[in-house]
Amino acid sequence: MKYHITTYGCQMNLHESEKIAGILKGCGYDEESNEEEADIIVFNTCCIRENAENHAFGNIGALKKLKKRKPSLLIALGGCMAQEAGKAEYIKRKFPFVDIVFGTHNLNELQSLIEKKRTTKKTVVSLKEEREEIEDGIIPVRRSYPNAWVNITYGCNNFCTYCIVPYVRGREKSRDPEDILNEVKGLVKEGYKEITLLGQNVDSYNSNGMRFPELLDKVASIEGNFRVAFMTSHPKDFSKGLVEVMKKHQKICRRMHLPAQSGSDRILSLMNRRYTREKYLSEIALLKQEIPDCEVTTDLIVGFPTETEEEFEETLSLVKEAGFSSAFTFVYSPRTGTKAAAMDGQIPEEISKKRIMRLVECVNNQTREKSAKCVGQTLEILVEDYDEKKEYYLGRDSYGRMGYFKSNRDRVGEFVKLKITKANGVSLYGEEQ
Ligand code: SAH
Ligand code: SF4
Ligand code: F3S
Repeated sequence: MKYHITTYGCQMNLHESEKIAGILKGCGYDEESNEEEADIIVFNTCCIRENAENHAFGNIGALKKLKKRKPSLLIALGGCMAQEAGKAEYIKRKFPFVDIVFGTHNLNELQSLIEKKRTTKKTVVSLKEEREEIEDGIIPVRRSYPNAWVNITYGCNNFCTYCIVPYVRGREKSRDPEDILNEVKGLVKEGYKEITLLGQNVDSYNSNGMRFPELLDKVASIEGNFRVAFMTSHPKDFSKGLVEVMKKHQKICRRMHLPAQSGSDRILSLMNRRYTREKYLSEIALLKQEIPDCEVTTDLIVGFPTETEEEFEETLSLVKEAGFSSAFTFVYSPRTGTKAAAMDGQIPEEISKKRIMRLVECVNNQTREKSAKCVGQTLEILVEDYDEKKEYYLGRDSYGRMGYFKSNRDRVGEFVKLKITKANGVSLYGEEQ
């Protein structure tokens, strides 16, 4: 028996797919890269923007024929879209050949849902409002060596007005620090070289009074040859304590993903982000004062309801002022049930499209300028993969810069020093030193 998993969305979901793989392995399934050969196909979905949903629906719809040809095939749909209000009913109606719909708090039930499906023709649906047990005890089949993801929090309490995550991932819960530290120690022993601590908002980690800087300090104090990264940080919870811990440990990556979302105070307030442009910039200033070479990346949204041209331009100027090394840029997408979706002043698509093009160009220019400055420098990258097409090994350094080099033996999982000879967009090419 074989499984195939298709994942959409963020790191949280990628890691959750590793857990789904762990459950299926426990049920006696092996991994299969070809969908057509699988006995169970799982879609781990995302609903952060409308296009993420459309993408998944397209791929699910395309399975109708395969299912007809192979009635024994099981199709399961999980993740954030499954958890959205009314979506399970919609899926049952629109895609009746989907066998199982399971929510974001129901991973532990997957095996019993598979068994249940064998006794009924109907779509088996299981959704829970909240995560009951914080420790799921699932042993993931990790797919991202030499990186390993480790959850520190689940859910989100922030209710940014555009965002659906708090509705589909439930209230924020922090894992017990002992469990996190034991997991990291185990991963380091197994040879993982980069540990990424995951949470929708890592800075609000709070387990019986232990806050994120203390947890990070403890993780980075674990012995071994590895790096620590974390995401995502929230500017409203940024703390000097976090910067101090980063400064103390060379093991902690010299990068921070700090989503700004907008450069305009009026829009930030409508978004319920609870910081101002000035506060955001002062945080970056503090970070750079303490760790001058630290890189900052961000997320930005254009076309939030009522955003004016001038306010959009404040986002453009923020890119320069904050000196982001790169940014994920999004067109605002109304999500049913969120406050912003019901606001007056929704921005027409033509306007948002023009804005996003200007923003992407601004970000890309800055990224390219930064890359070009790396020529002649030496980077220490952690080799992550081999690009078969380009015939290069590739990896990232502690600042998040992507380096490519040639080698005639397998280097994945090694730290390699590269002298950069060429920059091509964000990709840096170099020779091993
Ligand atoms: N918890 C993280 C990431 C959440 S989702 C954080 O708070 O930053 C990742 C990004 O998707 C967000 O940072 C935001 O930029 C974007 N996003 C979320 N909802 C969106 C929406 N409705 N339309 C467009 N982009 C959205
Ligand atoms: Fe969404 Fe805001 Fe929570 Fe991030 S912090 S997941 S953007 S509600
Ligand atoms: Fe992630 Fe998408 Fe869910 S971004 S938390 S998979 S809605």
